[in-house]
Amino acid sequence: MRTDTPQTIYRKDYTPPSYLVDTVELGFDLDPARTIVANRLTMRRNPASAQREIELYGEELELVALRLNGKTLGKRDYRIEGNLLRIAHAPEEVTLEIETLCAPEKNTALSGLYVSNGNFITQCEAEGFRRITYFPDRPDVMARYTVMLRADKERFPVLLSNGNLVEEGELGDGRHYAKWEDPFPKPSYLFALVAAKLVCQEEKFQLADGREALLQVWVEEGNLDKTDHAMQSLKRSIRWDEERYGLELDLDRFMIVATGDFNMGAMENKGLNIFNTKYVLANPRVATDVDFQGIEAVVGHEYFHNWTGNRVTCRDWFQLSLKEGLTVFRDQEFSGDMIGTSSGRAVNRIDQVRTLRQVQFPEDAGPMAHPVRPDSFVEINNFYTVTVYEKGAEVVRMYQTLLGREGFRKGMDLYFERHDGQAVECDDFRSAMADANGRNLDQFERWYSQSGTPVVQAEGRYDESARTYTLKLSQSCPPTPGQPDKLPFHIPVAVGLLGASGRDLPLTIDGKELGTTAVLELTESEQNFVFSGVAESPTPSLLRDFSAPVVLKYGYSDAELLHLFSHDSDPVNRWEAGQRLSMERLLKLTEVAAAGGELSLDDTFVEAMRKILTDDTLDPAFREQALLLPSESMIADQMDVVQPLPIHTARQFMRAEIGARLHNELLATYRSQQTPGEYSADAESIGRRALKNLALAYLGATPAEQALALAQEQFSNATNMTDRVAALGALIHANAPAAPDALNRFYDEFEDEALVIDKWFAMQATAATTDVAKVRKLMKHPAFNMRNPNRVRSLISSFCAANPVQFHAADGSGYAFWAEQVIALDALNPQIASRLSRAMDRWRRYTPELQAYMKQALEKVAGQTKLSNDVREVVSKALS
Ligand code: PHE
Ligand code: ZN
Repeated sequence: MRTDTPQTIYRKDYTPPSYLVDTVELGFDLDPARTIVANRLTMRRNPASAQREIELYGEELELVALRLNGKTLGKRDYRIEGNLLRIAHAPEEVTLEIETLCAPEKNTALSGLYVSNGNFITQCEAEGFRRITYFPDRPDVMARYTVMLRADKERFPVLLSNGNLVEEGELGDGRHYAKWEDPFPKPSYLFALVAAKLVCQEEKFQLADGREALLQVWVEEGNLDKTDHAMQSLKRSIRWDEERYGLELDLDRFMIVATGDFNMGAMENKGLNIFNTKYVLANPRVATDVDFQGIEAVVGHEYFHNWTGNRVTCRDWFQLSLKEGLTVFRDQEFSGDMIGTSSGRAVNRIDQVRTLRQVQFPEDAGPMAHPVRPDSFVEINNFYTVTVYEKGAEVVRMYQTLLGREGFRKGMDLYFERHDGQAVECDDFRSAMADANGRNLDQFERWYSQSGTPVVQAEGRYDESARTYTLKLSQSCPPTPGQPDKLPFHIPVAVGLLGASGRDLPLTIDGKELGTTAVLELTESEQNFVFSGVAESPTPSLLRDFSAPVVLKYGYSDAELLHLFSHDSDPVNRWEAGQRLSMERLLKLTEVAAAGGELSLDDTFVEAMRKILTDDTLDPAFREQALLLPSESMIADQMDVVQPLPIHTARQFMRAEIGARLHNELLATYRSQQTPGEYSADAESIGRRALKNLALAYLGATPAEQALALAQEQFSNATNMTDRVAALGALIHANAPAAPDALNRFYDEFEDEALVIDKWFAMQATAATTDVAKVRKLMKHPAFNMRNPNRVRSLISSFCAANPVQFHAADGSGYAFWAEQVIALDALNPQIASRLSRAMDRWRRYTPELQAYMKQALEKVAGQTKLSNDVREVVSKALS
């Protein structure tokens, strides 16, 4: 915790490390109250550096001893300033021995070495290693690690670290030891250890080159019945990376450890991935379909990091998207390939588009907007964002769209050929893509350096006599903090043209036949694309498969949108047409609601929904996506002045209208989409459950008694968590008389399942009937724990981020609550506090009355004298 003005760090100030580290030997005497860490490192001066002092970072450490080439250093031989320990006049080659003390049980920030439910866990990304020992803790310093762990055998029977186990044994006095060696040089952020009472599911797995690897999933006793899906996902990930990218597992052993106390989703430590339990534990009784899918994606993500992140890592933290954007793209492709069918893939893609619009576009339009490769930061932990991750993945996807799948693979191959074992920059990835394909991708660099969401405006003109269709595309990008003016991006715009029959017209530009989807490259502020041989006036299907992370504007008529909604061969754009139809209406309804007028919904829209709902040729999963309305925050994002209550009223009205006017069809759908028999998490079953439960939700949005009876019945008879929470959700959101009792039963049945109790809190936190007083009451529940990130997210963050009506209550009580919780959390866990502080990002877009309260709350937090850099950066950017 610092109280002085936080320092801003700039990308342009990068300098190479003064010393390089060859080997690190770490010895741990693990004790929750007082752990001794002995660190012996061999270093040599870096010829590429002008700087001659040794620079080591350390935080919350007690320095016990420091020796250089065997000689103990006294207070005059080194300087400590803040987190930096500097040694001047050191020789070319150095062996440093450093002994420090730390207190894992007092570590509530969950960065460095900490204790979770009695077990030792580490988390070192981004800068947690310096909380374990003094070290040049920066990703461009890569070294070989040997680790000796010593601990009480009864309390910590399992001792794990990166790489291979080379020795283990007894120490007498009830203690034991294990020695691990990691053959691969790695940056310190990939270091990990676990000392714990755990059990594992393990398996030998044959790799493509014939080697066998030992795969393990480690969990607390009692959770062994929930590891199977993670293990299956791991095996599928290994296979997929072999097949799609020719990348093999480079270790004899690959371990996953689950912990209930974790700031993020999971961590790709070399050979020893550490996961939030949320992304490991699953069986049908406790996990939903979404949980199953999340586990597959995150297990894949962390595994894929072994090549994109570990073998090739980042030069500095500004390059974070080099590994994260690329690895998210890889896990998205993996998930798509696992579903297999083209409509399944589209549903997967639609989910990605939704996340972007729901979370990334707002970030890009708010005070924390930053380029995919930021130019500066105060606290790097604040930059593990949807921009670096999800927009970063879109940037990687655009290479594939521009170069084709094969061209992209060539680029990947060249990237590994050039950079295996190195710490590199985003520009190196771009060069590999360009060079492998003989393409100039200079302009593409702007996707890394310019923040903000580009707007692409399209206009079409059909010339009947010339049989040409001219598409005029223009682009602009709104100003963002520090970037008032933008240069044009290199944007791939995938386009199709639909004829009156709904079929795709063949596309020809400059005599070149382009099939039925053409990828147009928009590189200037304005360009015309002329399609020839166009037999009829077409309806354009623009930005197919969401080919670029932009806002696409085109003056569609209702008739054109209905045409696309019924016929577009590109499922993502078919869905998109439906979203446009809904959004237009939701915005109008919101206006009417704000003015206190009478709400109504047109037949045309209801009929379009009816058609999709009852079209049995369409996958249930796709129908569910197409029938789902834009969320309240997506609606808010379209408004100049946000009024949360009218938005809620409008959306609820629309839901109730659909529920009532499609009552029979929804009921029939509900009945026809049952998935009897044993639970299976395949895409087809998941889609059926999703559609069925959406039907239930729409029915539940009407006052009809019948729907609530169905929900109650489903709640009682459910054989899986997906159906159970869907039914409970329907009861809660309808404020049904049966809801409180159902909630109690749910709690009693799952009291011992922490992840299910998280759902129990989250469902209540997001109910429109839950006000601040109710949240405060829930915080007093014995199962609530301010130190556990999952619990905090499920109650406090869910309320602030996903209960807009109550969070934005007219009396400002939601904001006052927010300030109080940010301050309280900051004293325990700055990263979690900082995430919560982002709930206020877009405060300037609300009504003046709400703004005044929000400003007051922000100022209250900013006025704290003791505040972490994490929260300080977010609130000061919000207020500036
Ligand atoms: N690198 C992790 C991932 O994306 C995320 C993470 C960051 C986890 C920082 C912990 C701390 O896979
Ligand atoms: Zn990652």
